[in-house]
Amino acid sequence: MYLSNGWSWCQHRVWKQMLRGLSTRVNPASKEIRKMFLDFFMERHGHEYVHSSSVIPPKGQGTYFTNAGMNQFKPLFLGTADAMSEMSRYRRVVNSQKCIRVGGKHNNLDDVGKDFTHHTFFEMLGNWSFADYFKTEACAMALQLLTQVYHLHTDRLYVTYFGGNSLLSLPPDEECRQVWLSLGIPPERVLPFGMKDNFWDMGNTGPCGPCSEIHYDHIGNRNAASLVNTGSPDVVEIWNLVFMQFDRLADQTLKSLPRQHVDTGMGLERLCAVIQGTRSNYDTDLFSPLFDHIRQAGTAPGYHGNVGAADEKGIDSAYRIVADHARMFTVTIADGLLPGNEDLEHKLRHILHRCIHQALCILHLPHGFLSGLVDVVVDSLGEAYPEISKDVPKIKDVVNMTEDRYLSNLTQARKTLEKFLSSQKTGTDRLICGEEALGLYEGRYGPPISLEILTTLAEEKGLSVDMTTIELKLKEDRETSYRASNMSQSASSFHLDHHALQRLQEMGVPETEDSGKYDYKRMGDSYDFTTIRACVCALVHDGTFVDCVQSGEQCWVILDRTSFYAESGGQVSDQGEIITQTGRLLVTDVQKVKGYVLHIATVTSGQVQVGESSLCKLDQARREGCMRNHTATHLLNFALRETLGHDGIRQQGSLVTPQRLTFDFSYLGSIDSQQLTEIEVCVKKLIAERREVTKAEMTLAAAQSLPNLVKLENELYPSNVRVVAVGTIPGEVSGRAENSSVELCAGTHVDNTADLTEFCVIRLTSVSLGTKRMTAVTGRDAVQAVQTSHELEDVYKQLEECVLNGRNMEKWVQWEKQLNKGLSEELVQKTKRDELLDKLRRLGDKMSHQMNKDEKSRRIEDFVSLVDEHKDSPFLISDVTMEITIKQMMKTLHSSASYRKPTFLVVRSKNGENSELLVKHT
Ligand code: ALA
Repeated sequence: MYLSNGWSWCQHRVWKQMLRGLSTRVNPASKEIRKMFLDFFMERHGHEYVHSSSVIPPKGQGTYFTNAGMNQFKPLFLGTADAMSEMSRYRRVVNSQKCIRVGGKHNNLDDVGKDFTHHTFFEMLGNWSFADYFKTEACAMALQLLTQVYHLHTDRLYVTYFGGNSLLSLPPDEECRQVWLSLGIPPERVLPFGMKDNFWDMGNTGPCGPCSEIHYDHIGNRNAASLVNTGSPDVVEIWNLVFMQFDRLADQTLKSLPRQHVDTGMGLERLCAVIQGTRSNYDTDLFSPLFDHIRQAGTAPGYHGNVGAADEKGIDSAYRIVADHARMFTVTIADGLLPGNEDLEHKLRHILHRCIHQALCILHLPHGFLSGLVDVVVDSLGEAYPEISKDVPKIKDVVNMTEDRYLSNLTQARKTLEKFLSSQKTGTDRLICGEEALGLYEGRYGPPISLEILTTLAEEKGLSVDMTTIELKLKEDRETSYRASNMSQSASSFHLDHHALQRLQEMGVPETEDSGKYDYKRMGDSYDFTTIRACVCALVHDGTFVDCVQSGEQCWVILDRTSFYAESGGQVSDQGEIITQTGRLLVTDVQKVKGYVLHIATVTSGQVQVGESSLCKLDQARREGCMRNHTATHLLNFALRETLGHDGIRQQGSLVTPQRLTFDFSYLGSIDSQQLTEIEVCVKKLIAERREVTKAEMTLAAAQSLPNLVKLENELYPSNVRVVAVGTIPGEVSGRAENSSVELCAGTHVDNTADLTEFCVIRLTSVSLGTKRMTAVTGRDAVQAVQTSHELEDVYKQLEECVLNGRNMEKWVQWEKQLNKGLSEELVQKTKRDELLDKLRRLGDKMSHQMNKDEKSRRIEDFVSLVDEHKDSPFLISDVTMEITIKQMMKTLHSSASYRKPTFLVVRSKNGENSELLVKHT
């Protein structure tokens, strides 16, 4: 067989020569170990290299980071890969995948720091066979790599195989056992294990299969079989070979897959530890440069490699946490995530905060030190993952900004906690009960203290804090929001599960032909939408397929063809009516599930039956609003890049409704009002130029070669895509209007930018560090927003004139209130709102300053006349308040030539409570 051929691989020779030439063994560095793995599978066994996917999963694929090499190949295992896609031709693939295990089924976060093997970020080396080779070749290649390339001793290796499960009627994987025996592994090192260790699945349903693990004994020269899978640090699992051979159905039965696959994963960090002869992953060259850098800062004590009680002050643990987290945040920010309040963004922020705390408070590293670790991580990983090196200054900015914020929050929280503790009049060694902790968290005792900071401060002060009430509250909040999102989903969409899809296929219902959504023409000032005639193919009422639905009933309608746009790409769905021969349906939502367009509707009159012919009538105003706002979203995306720089902007989310467009994007800087004006001007210019909006279908590969193409990061695009360009598609028609925006987009758009009439940004907020949200309007709403803004400016001018000329001052409060109310309306231009609010504030300051001044001089005048009135009397009694200061009184008395005598003043403080007696002699 080809595996027994003479070994002449050059990498291997070079290394062997190196070993021969040196008296002591030279261990390959992590970079070589990674490269040897890739080269072995590529050069020796014809695998194709597919670069690591992002650590951020594609949209809609869960809220966990990429946690295994196989994630990007799921469509191949599931058999859902688009036949035209690049992926569908993969047979043998190899790579090293950036993985993060924080949250979810595989969560390493709590263990990082405590031992030598857990990481939040790690690299998974993997090789895959998609219906190509299977067990024999996979095991043989693995053994060859470990023993002949990495030179691990065969007698230190132990392999496991699936020992069967009687409940599931699964026999032991005898085939796998025989493969290992035939490869020369002695029977006492070929060990069976159960479902937990040797059966791997992606989830409750779908492809799964037995797996075989390779374990390594660090000690050697013994039989360590009894230590396999016992958690011994001496005998560790290094490689997992999964044999996908079953499909687990919804009823949990296992059906053999027609095509069998191989999915393997080996952690680079652990492999390096084995090859470099250490038990600790942290003693390999993947971490030592980070430790060196920390030590060189000169403030931290040295690293001694202790864990548990031996690591008395937690110094070694802090080293491990800081180094591990620095790798995690560098890779994650480089892949486009920014710290924030929810989901993955929140996990990233949590890691950053934990790292900052350990660096500053345990290792006493200087403020600003952490961002320097980014360079060290880039040195170590940049070669394998060039994407990490692309924008190092940005990664550093994010780290520094997070550190600044964290520190200012920590200082604030310390003050709040001190105040709280002193108000409780008890020592600092007390227990803060659940309700009090919740109060601190919710901000009842001052600015709210985050859970992380509360935990940190409790540790710092040696306080016991009962976190259960906070955690309960967080759980409730999560459940409420989960219920809310589920409610909206079930109200708006129908989940076509495996069975429903099968039923539709059995009934011969074709996938819905929905190109009619693009079938419209511009006619004068509005659009003419083709009324499509379609056949009612299926009706679902109360979750079951029915033949007929009656008036008043809710249902889901599947037609053979439709002009309704199903919600996608941030654009809300169409609404409208479906009119059949016997009844009418009001369509309130439209969703597309696996090629079927579901019209979510209520029968408003008559009844509707399967097989009837029908007419699709869209709510045209709603559709036109969406078309305008979707095109405006593209113009805004373009204008943001033009104004703020192309590299800094990344689309994070978009919502297009008939009334508004909301656009989330990452941008680290702040956007001032001049920049915002420039953004608006840029969009308005494109509208004024009456640019044509061109749409074209093409292959993904052709689209990707278009210059300046904008596409979403982490979005899985089909092999045929739609390109929307403002101007002409580059290369399609030459010489026409210059292009401004070219995007991959399946939404519906106007034909000409002139249809937008007007554009106005009404809101700009910061969603989290570096993520901004801009809300804008077009058409009539934009015209109104601009007009209202001008009107409010006129009102302001009148008000200013009155104030400056001292006229109608008594009406000030009323006018100010009115203007403030006008400015708080939604449809006001954001820049104008900010400008007028600022002017109004300054005018208000001027007003109160003037009023105070007038009041003061009036009081002094009164005092002077009082002094004059009493110039002949031996004493002066008056009720004077602090509104006129003692200093002013004394000055007045001194300057009054006629008043030269000892003066006795009784002064009352401003709040009138405390009286003081002051005796002054002039
Ligand atoms: N997907 C397998 C794992 O993660 C290789 O262990």
